[in-house]
Amino acid sequence: MKSDDEIFDDIEGLILKEAAKFYSPAVIEHFNNPQNFGEIEDADANTYMSGICGDTIGIFVKLTGDKISNIGFVTNGCGATISCASALTCMAKDRNLNEARNISSQQLIEFLGGLPIENTHCADLAVNTLRGALAKLS
Ligand code: FES
Repeated sequence: MKSDDEIFDDIEGLILKEAAKFYSPAVIEHFNNPQNFGEIEDADANTYMSGICGDTIGIFVKLTGDKISNIGFVTNGCGATISCASALTCMAKDRNLNEARNISSQQLIEFLGGLPIENTHCADLAVNTLRGALAKLS
């Protein structure tokens, strides 16, 4: 008889197999292993925004000079939202303000190896939230 952990692993494996039909390896990796997750206590700016579906992302930015030296995110959103926010923080980290502001939804989607059309608004939400936080630093 299988243990609870083995049953959990089986279920997780089935879910990942199903997800792989719709999502790229990068999307699944960022969902399974989100980067830069969490609030930053001493952030220089932060913003929360909600998308058309009601999901919310918060982004926290810490600067060293003109460069994003630390960045974090929180969200109550779906797996694609987690992946978008995680990937975007990776793209923005160590960039200067101007470079980070200019990251587009399309660039984020390309970075993730594509997104299903119904999840492209998750990328828009992540990008808009980052731009909202950066706007407070201008
Ligand atoms: Fe709406 Fe991801 S932000 S489903």
